[in-house]
Amino acid sequence: MFYFGVDFYPEHWPEDYWPEAARLMAEARFNVVRLAEFAWSKMEPKEGQFDFSWLDSAIDILAQHDMRIVLGTPTASPPAWLLNKYPDIFRVREDQLRLTYGNRREYCPSNRRYIEYSSKIVGQMAQHYAHHPAVIGWQIDNEFGERCYCPNCAEAFRKWLHCRYQTLDELNDKWGTVFWSHTYGGWEEIPVPLTTGGSPNPGLALDFYRFSSDSYQAYQQKQIDLLREKCPQHFITHNCMGFKYDRIDYFNLARPLDFVAWDNYPSTQWSQQTEVDPSLLALAHASMRGLKRRNFWVIEQQAGPAGWEIVSTAPRPGQLRLWAYQSIAHGADGILFFRWRTNRFGTEQHWHGLLDADGRPGRRYEEVRRMGCEITKLGGVIDGSIIKASIAMLHSYEARFAFQIQANNPQFSYPEHFHQIYKAFYDRRVPVDIVCPTDDLGDYKLVIAPALHIVSEAVAENLKRFVQAGGVLVVTPRSGVKDEANAVVDLPLPGLLAELCGVKVEEYDSLLPDMSQVLEFVSAEIAPNPQPSARVWCDILAPEDAEIVARYTCDFYAGKPAITINQYGQGKAIYVGTFGDKELYDTLADWVLRLTGLQRSISAPAGIEVTERWQGDRRLLFILNHTARCHEITLDGNYTNLLDGSSRVRGTVVIPPHDVLILTPST
Ligand code: GAL
Repeated sequence: MFYFGVDFYPEHWPEDYWPEAARLMAEARFNVVRLAEFAWSKMEPKEGQFDFSWLDSAIDILAQHDMRIVLGTPTASPPAWLLNKYPDIFRVREDQLRLTYGNRREYCPSNRRYIEYSSKIVGQMAQHYAHHPAVIGWQIDNEFGERCYCPNCAEAFRKWLHCRYQTLDELNDKWGTVFWSHTYGGWEEIPVPLTTGGSPNPGLALDFYRFSSDSYQAYQQKQIDLLREKCPQHFITHNCMGFKYDRIDYFNLARPLDFVAWDNYPSTQWSQQTEVDPSLLALAHASMRGLKRRNFWVIEQQAGPAGWEIVSTAPRPGQLRLWAYQSIAHGADGILFFRWRTNRFGTEQHWHGLLDADGRPGRRYEEVRRMGCEITKLGGVIDGSIIKASIAMLHSYEARFAFQIQANNPQFSYPEHFHQIYKAFYDRRVPVDIVCPTDDLGDYKLVIAPALHIVSEAVAENLKRFVQAGGVLVVTPRSGVKDEANAVVDLPLPGLLAELCGVKVEEYDSLLPDMSQVLEFVSAEIAPNPQPSARVWCDILAPEDAEIVARYTCDFYAGKPAITINQYGQGKAIYVGTFGDKELYDTLADWVLRLTGLQRSISAPAGIEVTERWQGDRRLLFILNHTARCHEITLDGNYTNLLDGSSRVRGTVVIPPHDVLILTPST
């Protein structure tokens, strides 16, 4: 079954409005509603006094319209009575400012008392709703986030370090604390890394970032344990924040969840533009799908103009539906629009729901209602269908943490570099999975490791196994530079990957913004036009066994290798020694697709996205027009149009602005 619905806050509206809301939701063919994730003070108005009667009524009204209910645990917004009683729950920022009451997400995840109070409210909710026929699952908290630097966390961090290193000698050795006389003689001497006070020891900082991520994971686990015990038949998820969020290792956070959910707001990051770059959204979807290598939910899908203080542009007619179908095209099995009705009060007054504050159904509601009817008509066509990719990109939160500590070059951004590579394949309409460097890579023909800064023995072995067995690996600069303690390896770079790549980095050059140079491709197979350029960083390569693919053309390393390829076992490892421009990644993508024999999907003009889901052997083709104008697409065979009641299509089809086609091959 496909879950289609909305996030609703009945506590924000008079009770006599709820039946009307439920009726309109049913008309939009919604079958799921998320409730209560910010309603702690309504459910426990005073310490130890629990009241679920209002939520029971809301659920009953929704259930009369066959809505399934996902309950959010309300711990992202603790009540004033709790924080006033125990101010040590407030999180401390890196600049040592302790938060005060008045927003949300102000708690420290390691605070013993907070964990206790969270367990009480979650336990009560779980008990109360364990056997409710409408309740199907839980979202834990809401968008776990920022790091806490409070004394409590400092203490928990030291315990965490003790577990990791066992002895202080080991820790001192791994972090290299002899530098600047930082050698620790007692665990209690170890500080939290305040980058505001100058650059900390990179080993200490990386471990603190890991600890901080783990502390949210541990906090989440407490709630999971309670829910699993009391409601074993319900699913459990958490709403992540896509690819852009990098304070938590989402691979770890996702492990105990049944599936990943995430919050998709196309206009928040690009609010001044009406044409959102769809490849950024696709990347976010792929990264969320990769966390568990399975389909996901978008539990908050944009429903209107976004904004707290400033209001974003209005999504253009068709865009809400388009973005929601794009979520499905990338593996969403559930979509809930955030939020039902624009609130009249509170910080998010300007974050628009499907309805405006006046509650009258308008253009946005109608667009989503149309989609609800379409999804009902699609029936089970999407159910159980998956994305099949032969390409994987390795996403490393450890590398991201390490680059947060030391950017290497101010122009370098790990997420931007990652996106540049992803986009080259996106533009060629080949699906890409985004997986963890330790994942089994046996399903893939091509694996790309962008700036894989920290490489453990296990990861190096994993990559060797993959190439040995016939895979093609692409590695980009600053890979293999660090060990797990964030110390530079005492090996020629790319460190543990040097043998696999058959190359050594002889020297490197970190470029200024106005420095770039054209690359010269030596292999006749690659004839780029226009010629790619090297930017930001140049690894000057000394091939051992590898063949030269491209050379630098300027400076003291003119003529030196910039890109190499090495035969290793049955496969090949390509080392790209520079962070180049778009032309470089386009050139590389074309070349490695040829090398691996991977096929592009049908070709289409820029701005038209093409993806596939597979239900067994049945291919579902999603064609999405992200532009504000009509486009023509030439199909490669006979298809059935699943959105318009099964008309036959072949040859050239016209796709209107912001419109969508879902096709399946027909005879
Ligand atoms: C999300 C969050 C929601 C709501 C929304 C709009 O990130 O999960 O609770 O705040 O943004 O700001």
